[in-house]
This record gives sequence, structure tokens and C-alpha cells, in this order.
Amino acid sequence: MGIITVAKLEPDMVMAGDLESRYGRFLLAKGTVLTSKHIKTFRTWGVVEVDIKGISQEDIESSAMAQLDPATLEAAEVMLRERFQQADLDHPVNHELFRLCALRKANEIQRGEQEGSNEYHEFSEADTDDNEILESTTTKMKPHEFIRKDIKLSTLPTIFMQIDETIKKPDSSAKNIANVIGGDPNLSAQLLRIVNSAFYGFPSRIDTLSRAVAIIGTRQLSTLAMGVNIISTFKNIPSDLIDMGSFWKHSISCGVIARILAGYKNIVNTERLFVAGLLHDIGRLLFYNYAPAESKNSLLKAKLSNNLLHKVEHETIGFDHAEIGALLLKKWKLPVSLETIVKYHHNPKKSRNRLETAVVHLADIMTNALGMGSSGERFVPPLDPDAWETIGLSVNILGLTIDQMDPQVEESFRIFR
Ligand SMILES: [Fe+2]
Ligand SMILES: [Fe+2]
Repeated sequence: MGIITVAKLEPDMVMAGDLESRYGRFLLAKGTVLTSKHIKTFRTWGVVEVDIKGISQEDIESSAMAQLDPATLEAAEVMLRERFQQADLDHPVNHELFRLCALRKANEIQRGEQEGSNEYHEFSEADTDDNEILESTTTKMKPHEFIRKDIKLSTLPTIFMQIDETIKKPDSSAKNIANVIGGDPNLSAQLLRIVNSAFYGFPSRIDTLSRAVAIIGTRQLSTLAMGVNIISTFKNIPSDLIDMGSFWKHSISCGVIARILAGYKNIVNTERLFVAGLLHDIGRLLFYNYAPAESKNSLLKAKLSNNLLHKVEHETIGFDHAEIGALLLKKWKLPVSLETIVKYHHNPKKSRNRLETAVVHLADIMTNALGMGSSGERFVPPLDPDAWETIGLSVNILGLTIDQMDPQVEESFRIFR
């Protein structure tokens, strides 16, 4: 018998133990022969893994491996070696991520799938008719001066402040919060769609906001409302430098992965990690929109020098997207914990919020490794080994997280679109 993730279940497998929901409710008895309907229902219930008779996850993986054409696997590995060139493949996390991503990529190639809209804009020297851009030492700005530029996004919609004020009042009830959120029909509709999606996997439908607040919790739903709000504020910003679909795919995937990892660490408000993942690269949107020449220069320089984009940003702009993103969150008066995660997601050692920053740091690495969209970076960012120590989970969690991630990313992407 073995613990098999839901993504790897197949009809006719036999359950080796009773199955309970994550809330401890009995779902299905030992000995049940699985049907495709059961497997579909597991997904809706949010079941992650099931104890199965006579087979282990390793058996499934090696038989999947055996079905792959070795030449296809090799082609996948060649593609991934390029993406992983800044990563230390001797570290067990990178090693396992490389293996998982190569299998995934080989399967995609075998099924004839393309990565789709998750490619970054490929810049070349021909893209710039002004070579001075490359040559010049661009005017270095100070982060505070930059944020003072005419940035349309310097304030968040008032509904967000109202939600924030309401949850801070000690006598606020679920109904009060629901009433405030209900003031924005778009926000309410999106929240209810999320609550009823694979993101939560509740067995029955939640059709009112006050029930959603009661079940998910005030703080969690408010955090989620904040994320939804920010996406709606940002998603229509056009940029010639980046495919916005790809940018949001990267952000949403990082949020979903951070939330799943946070669940494994029993972090209380996993929605905060979702929002932190969602916003981790928001500084890049500011760069692309308010410093387009410098951003183009950064993208081009990073490509020509095979360097990491956030390092090049320091040279061309004077500071990186993480710093400016954190300043924007500060201006929005978002919780300091979020600001800290965003500020140090490439340098988690410096964070005062070590665990949560480490989670988003890893989620970003996984998102880049899997090629889930892009915020402009071409490589898997280097892993801070201390951050992995801080997270303190087994490397097996990487595969489990990837298996859980797909349906949630798909639904979140559809909902936020
Ligand atoms: Fe980043
Ligand atoms: Fe990122």
C-alpha cells in the first residue's frame, strides 16, 4: 500500500484505509474500489492524497517514466538545463524540482502541448533602435522618488479601506463584514466564485457572503478580498514589455503554490501567503509602466549577460522590483508582514518574517522552474539553502504541491480573468 496523490489516482485502485476530509469527516471506507466519479469528487472535496492497496507513488512514477520516450525526456532536460542554469543542482530541492519539471515537460512534449502564454518577451539588440539605452548609465533614481512619480495606483479602492476598518472593530460580526463586501457586487461575485472553486474544495455550495465569512473566517476572507481587489485594479494595465496574461499566470501560480506550502506548515492565515505570492513581483509592473526605457534595458542586459533580472535591475535602475513593490504596499497601508515578504522574496535571510518569506521565496522558484508564466525573469532564481531549512519540510512536498497546484491555478486564473 502507499499514499498516492489525487492527481495520480486511477479507476479500479483499492483504498487501503478509511478516508477522512481535512476537517475530520468520514468520506469513504477502506476496501472501496475507486471509480472515476470518486476521483472527481475527491478533487471537489479538496482531498490531497489517498492510501491505496498494493501500489506506491514511486511505482506510479517509475511506470510513467517507462512510458516516456528517452529522447523526449532528454529534449525536456536540455530545455530545462537552460532555465536552471543559475540554480545549484546539487541542492536536493533543485535536484528534485529539476526531475519533476523534466518529467512534466517531457509529458507535455509527448502530448504535443506548448507552454502557451507563459513565455517572456524575447528581447534582442534589434529590439532597440537606440543603442544609447544599452550604453548609457541610466539615471539612477531613489525608490522614494520613483514612488512619488505620477503613479495612478498610489491609492487602493475605498472599499478596501472600509473592509480593513470593519475587521479592526472588535464588535464587527460576520454580517457586518459581508455587508461591506456586498457593497461591491463585482468583488462579492468573484469572492463567491473563489469560495466555491477547487481553491477550497468545499463539498456543498456556499451561496451567501455571510456564510463564506463564517466558514472561512473574517481575516481570511478579507485578505482574499484584498487580493481580488488588487488584481482588478492592476489587471488592465497595458505594457509593451510583458505579456500581462503571462505576468498574472506567474503571480497567481506563485500565490497558489505559497498557499499550498503554507498549509503543509500549518500557517494560520494561508490566504495571506496567497496574496503575498500574488503581489511578490508587483514592483515589476511599476517598472514596466513608469520606467519603460530602463526596464527594456534591464530585460535586454539580463538576456545578453545571462544574468538574473533582479540583479540587473540594481545596475540599470538603482534598486530592484522587490524594494519598489514593498514601498507600494507600504503606501497602500497593507500589513507590514506582506510588505516584508515582498521586499525580501529574493533575499529571505534579511526578513524579520522568515518563515513566510521563505515560503514565497520557494513558491517563486517553483513557479519559475515550472514555467508558469513569467514576470520577465528567464531563469529559476537561486535558492537560499537557509530558507529551505527554515521551511523544514521533506523534498517530497514539492511533488505533492505540484500535483495539487494545477486545478487551483486553472480555476483562479479563470476567476480573476
Ligand atoms: Fe521577484
Ligand atoms: Fe517572481
